Amino acid sequence: NIFPGRVNSMGVDLADPVVRRPMLDRLQELNEQVWAAAPTVLAGSGGPVREIRSPFDRSQVVGTVLEAAPEDVDLAYKRAKEAQPRWDALGGLARADLLDRTADLFEENMAEFISICHREAGKNIIDGVLEVREAVDFLRFYASEARMLFAAPLPLPGPTGEENRLGLYGRGIFASISPWNFPLAIFTGTMAAPLAAGNTVLAKPAAQTPLVAALATRLCHEAGIPNDVLQLLPGGGDVGGRMTSDERVSGVVFTGSVGTARAINRSLADRDAPIATLIAETGGQNAMIVDSSALPEQVTRDVVASSFQSAGQRCSALRVLYLQNEVADTMLDMIKGAFEALVIGDPRDMSTDVGPVIDEDAREKLEAHVADMQAKGFKVHRRELPEGLENGTFVAPTIIELDSIHDLDGENFGPILHIVRFDINELEEVIEDINSTGFGLTMGLHSRIDATRRRVEAHVKVGNFYVNRNQIGAVVESQPFGGEGLSGTGPKAGGPNYLARFATERVTTIDT
Ligand code: NAD
Ligand code: ALA
Repeated sequence: NIFPGRVNSMGVDLADPVVRRPMLDRLQELNEQVWAAAPTVLAGSGGPVREIRSPFDRSQVVGTVLEAAPEDVDLAYKRAKEAQPRWDALGGLARADLLDRTADLFEENMAEFISICHREAGKNIIDGVLEVREAVDFLRFYASEARMLFAAPLPLPGPTGEENRLGLYGRGIFASISPWNFPLAIFTGTMAAPLAAGNTVLAKPAAQTPLVAALATRLCHEAGIPNDVLQLLPGGGDVGGRMTSDERVSGVVFTGSVGTARAINRSLADRDAPIATLIAETGGQNAMIVDSSALPEQVTRDVVASSFQSAGQRCSALRVLYLQNEVADTMLDMIKGAFEALVIGDPRDMSTDVGPVIDEDAREKLEAHVADMQAKGFKVHRRELPEGLENGTFVAPTIIELDSIHDLDGENFGPILHIVRFDINELEEVIEDINSTGFGLTMGLHSRIDATRRRVEAHVKVGNFYVNRNQIGAVVESQPFGGEGLSGTGPKAGGPNYLARFATERVTTIDT
């Protein structure tokens, strides 16, 4: 632990009936609640109002969102600009206390968050708990870092008799733009870090998931973070585009697709304004290599979790599994056995493993990919969707056998696993193929041979390399997360080098 005394969130132990029963009762009560999201201040009457409907049942309205109008974005920038010097001057210690207080409130509202994650984002209970834990971990970790980095300037050597010190200060205003697949954890991490570093923040959640972000923002304000320091701007790409083309933005912290990261980069570059920082975390074409020394039961468990947990809607998820020829048939049979046992259904049921995908657009793209692979003659194994899910946007978990990773055209963001067989004498070529996609987010290896691990480790170009385990669910501080190449700019979220990127450095030299 870099910070003695700070521990990661314990979450809730759902295996314990004494804990589980009240949690399930509370979730039941919350099922009927209707939520609302809106810009935290309005310049006029706001933009369009939309209903948010459940991905598992489109007839259910979870709440409404009032999207930010152009004047709301403008007003938010004005307020953020005025508030920033005051927030920066407050200092790292006071800001850290506010983030810690927010973390406590998040834990107290665990059930509310899980309920919205179910109903707005289609997450099952386990994924809902993990969202809250990760959000809390980000808040407390960045608070600890702020205490260390932003409490006082760092004295530097003064061999000439001068006094030298290095201080870190907020850059100004950060736009935080987050995706729907971690609607609480990433929303929280990407607003907490710039806040901790002394910036004011305009936070835009994904168009699909404003409700969980609205609750998170309300709790931040209740904890004492001023409402001109953190402002919520719900909306889609149009609102995001307005935020990133504004000359007042000092930096953007973005998580989402590569295409959007490029659009933001262009938008920042085109402004007639000081050069802004861009921190972007994007997608992946994540692979796992399994050789003949791997333990089959362990591989089966880890492959199924990596590919199908969260309905495959994790940037870290396994997309292409490489099986060594000698064990490929046996391994594939075992994986298919576990795949057949996955429970597909309503994410509110404790037994559900695979819930819906986020919306109709996502479902159509995934179905088009499966149809394309079938038309090209690749072998496709699909689960049947159970009856009663017709109102939701479900995609049947699917396994597709390919010849090569190059049969794929980019990331397929859902419950689809691709299999490629390989010859162990061609391990270097396999790694080269994986690297040649240009993505570099996660990679898994199952092997009991140290020399193989060293060979792979020496050549992989990914941000997070996992050996003999699944490749999802990076833990804040222990496994700082983020990719390279097409997968992101770094630095890694939840790691020791993150917070300083939100700051500007100033050296003061005093001749005594
Ligand atoms: P997306 O790029 O469509 O949207 C992400 C965010 O950008 C949303 O808030 C969206 O409204 C906003 N946006 C869209 N167009 C914009 C524009 N022109 N200017 C400014 N903002 C704009 O991504 P998504 O579909 O929400 O998320 C899924 C993607 O995110 C996948 O590719 C996944 O791999 C990636 N992801 C990466 C990580 C990571 O840490 N590397 C984590 C989660 C998700
Ligand atoms: N941090 C998330 C994971 O590791 C994306 O799955």
